[in-house]
Amino acid sequence: METSKPAMLELQGIHKSFGSVDVLKGISAQIAKGELLTFVGPSGCGKTTLLRIVGGFTSATSGRVILDGEDISNLPPNMRNTKMVFQSYALFPHMTVAKNVGFGLKLQKWPQKKIETRVEELLALVHLEGLGHRSIDRLSGGQQQRVALARALALEPKVLLLDEPLSNLDANLRVVMREEIRNIQERLQVTTIFVTHDQYEAMSISDRLLVLHQGVIQQIGSPVDIYERPANEFIAGFVGYVNFLEGQVDSVQNGCDSVWISTEFGRVELDHHQKDIAKGDNVLMVIRPETVTLSPWNGDESQNSFHGTVQSQMYAGNLAKYTVKFGQKEMVIDHYNPMGSRKYGKSEKVKVTIPRNVHVLKRKTD
Ligand SMILES: Nc1ncnc2c1ncn2[C@@H]1O[C@H](COP(=O)(O)OP(=O)(O)OP(=O)(O)O)[C@@H](O)[C@H]1O
Ligand SMILES: [Mg+2]
Repeated sequence: METSKPAMLELQGIHKSFGSVDVLKGISAQIAKGELLTFVGPSGCGKTTLLRIVGGFTSATSGRVILDGEDISNLPPNMRNTKMVFQSYALFPHMTVAKNVGFGLKLQKWPQKKIETRVEELLALVHLEGLGHRSIDRLSGGQQQRVALARALALEPKVLLLDEPLSNLDANLRVVMREEIRNIQERLQVTTIFVTHDQYEAMSISDRLLVLHQGVIQQIGSPVDIYERPANEFIAGFVGYVNFLEGQVDSVQNGCDSVWISTEFGRVELDHHQKDIAKGDNVLMVIRPETVTLSPWNGDESQNSFHGTVQSQMYAGNLAKYTVKFGQKEMVIDHYNPMGSRKYGKSEKVKVTIPRNVHVLKRKTD
């Protein structure tokens, strides 16, 4: 799904090989003005390579990079109007904070007074007021991250490129800096590509995620699209836990908007919101643990319910987690906010009810 805003950046059929290894196999995407798009995927899937191609630090084997309507594929990094913050920050350790932040402005021959004013403005933006005279080696990791961000923003690039900007920070600081980067990005409306291998970080900071795996885009979409409407099995398992349940479509009732699926444990009726699903299809239901309801076993066969036995249970206050076994299959069920409600013990017989709005993946027939 592409956004309706005009594209600030467009990637057209990007391929990249290192020797005989095809790392990127035809990446096409549009990034809207003011959008924060995350490249996310497992280690080694090509995120940094793709970001470096956008920034001009690596050349694509084929394909084009279009920035604000202009083909920049063959321009060097300093001619691109993009700015990259490297994972290592790449700050100049022998210079002060102010000199680092004002470095690009000096290269552009800005007058000294104007540089000072702009640097002050940028330091305020990243909450480093008063630290301009500090040397880089006397800053914490989080402060260095802020300097790198301020330096990248100094010349108002059209696209900001951030490669794993939070990976050197401890867990608490990661969350603080993530929110700050998002705040600054939204305030300045700067089009941004953020690279991370952390799915949760990607979900929480992005307008949209571009999920890379095996050299291709598995899905581009909002956090809601990725979680609630995954395009395939890889994406379904990419964020959060998922119970997969195989079945076959028995019938599709367009009139009452229902689809019936038979499974080895019984029949389920789902909302028919996916028009690509037809009678006879082999499907995989994507059942999130927190969407399933658990109730006492009563032996009645009711709609979308299966009877099973609690295999294990864990109580963590805000969450009760159960593993329920049916035949050879296990299903993980998360019951949030279990305070005051019925708890189930190991070996207890229970009824598990699947919601009607389960997302369904069509299995490929080869
Ligand atoms: N200059 C290079 N020469 C040869 N192979 C390379 C080069 N740069 C990257 N690769 C290979 O390309 C693949 C993608 O690398 P890349 O650094 O883009 O991955 P990544 O998704 O950023 O991974 P990570 O999450 O670990 O940072 C890897 O298999 C890597 O070994
Ligand atoms: Mg990388």
